[in-house]
Amino acid sequence: MTPVQALEKGGVYTVSLPRPDDFDYWRDAARRLIQCGVAPDRVSWRERGEAMDLFAVCSDQNDDGALPAPPINPSVVKTSKRFLDCARNAALHSDEERFALLYRLLWRLQSNPRIMEDKSDDDVRRIEDLAKNVRRDSHKMHAFVRFRRVEGSDGDASDRYVAWFEPDHHIVRANAGFFKRRFANMQWSILTPRGCIHWDGTRLSESGPASRSDAPADDAMEDLWRQYFASTFNPARLKIGAMMSEMPKKYWKNMPEAALIPELIAGAQSRESRMVNAGASEFSEPVASLHDIASGIGACRQCAIGCLDTQAVPGEGRHDGAASLSKRATFMIVGEQPGDQEEKAQRPFIGPAGEVLSAHLQQAGINREDAYLTNAVKHFKYTLRGKRRIHQSPTAKEIDTCRWWLDAERRIIRPQFVLALGASAARGLLGKTVSITRARGVPLQMDDQSELWITAHPSYLLRLDGDARAEQERLFQQDLKTFAKRLESYNKNLQV
Ligand code: URA
Repeated sequence: MTPVQALEKGGVYTVSLPRPDDFDYWRDAARRLIQCGVAPDRVSWRERGEAMDLFAVCSDQNDDGALPAPPINPSVVKTSKRFLDCARNAALHSDEERFALLYRLLWRLQSNPRIMEDKSDDDVRRIEDLAKNVRRDSHKMHAFVRFRRVEGSDGDASDRYVAWFEPDHHIVRANAGFFKRRFANMQWSILTPRGCIHWDGTRLSESGPASRSDAPADDAMEDLWRQYFASTFNPARLKIGAMMSEMPKKYWKNMPEAALIPELIAGAQSRESRMVNAGASEFSEPVASLHDIASGIGACRQCAIGCLDTQAVPGEGRHDGAASLSKRATFMIVGEQPGDQEEKAQRPFIGPAGEVLSAHLQQAGINREDAYLTNAVKHFKYTLRGKRRIHQSPTAKEIDTCRWWLDAERRIIRPQFVLALGASAARGLLGKTVSITRARGVPLQMDDQSELWITAHPSYLLRLDGDARAEQERLFQQDLKTFAKRLESYNKNLQV
């Protein structure tokens, strides 16, 4: 695509983005401006037509004459994966300053390629906040879009499904692929005030903004959905605050099941005591062995990951009471969730992240065979890209749901030491989110008196390159060596 619309006015270049979510257009323009040495305070970023032109057509794309000509040997514009990942999301935010912020950061990145690692930098913090808000908005869209059936008109035998959704940011087009994959066999439309997307079973299309009254109000499927919600609602796990933050009231009006929430909350306490008295909760069954856990996780459908068509992956490794026999500490290594290869083989840490882990353990003098390896989440969460299954991080709620199994494993293994790899593992063990940077290197006492050590996840290292990778490898190795020393001193005391 030809990059830029720019008019030079008193030394300031005005770049008009054809659409408010057009990251590629911004990137091409930004690259050109950086190569021409145009400082951020000389660029004004605009959304063409301002208010709502998500689906507007850019009529004069080739008019880039107002920019200075690119140098004959244009320099390579430096960037980083972290910046690009963040920028792609942040560009969809409704904040009018977002493109200027992205350009300022990209400009600064030319002289400081590691700027994204500086968590105290205002620009870095801001872009991360924007990206986070956008991810959250997308997550809400995935979770809360509810289709209503519209019967086919005469001559059109097939039904269509229509949903109404009000996103906070410009996320509609970016999420079209998700709904296409998820509802490939349906014909559907998602109507929003920021523009609409439609799928006819073979082709995606777009149209301008819609209003609430364009969407149908009710349909027969809603009764079914409400019944399902009421039957799966678990009063023992009701946390009203968490639920309200996960499912803010603003979405309730479009969700048939939401009508049940006040009533279910009101009845929750009495349902809970009935469940406890009857000892009937699936989650209150005692689990006596690792074998029980393996079959239990295989059948578990308590969260959306468990409902994907995948095999659960049980933990494996040393767990036979050898600690007392061999006078060596029992320790557990906890990862996030199985990956593609782990799911197929039903064994933890046998794929690329497992290789990185094994190499680092060996380098630190820790024998992998001495550990019991498991994950915070027992099923593989992924999204399909073509035929490839691409890893997706579990949500805090999914980790919390699976925690019950991890706790059961800990009760059986009774490790003296637990090494948590990454934030999901730490959350699975602690029930709250911690920052790896702050938590690493300092052991925490767990409720069962075991010692918890937290470090990064090896797949985090795999996502980095260059200096950033080298630095994270160093920190990871340092954490493992500290952990190894602690194991060694504990074992020495055992032997005395
Ligand atoms: N990553 C994990 O966290 N666990 C595995 O088992 C594999 C990769």
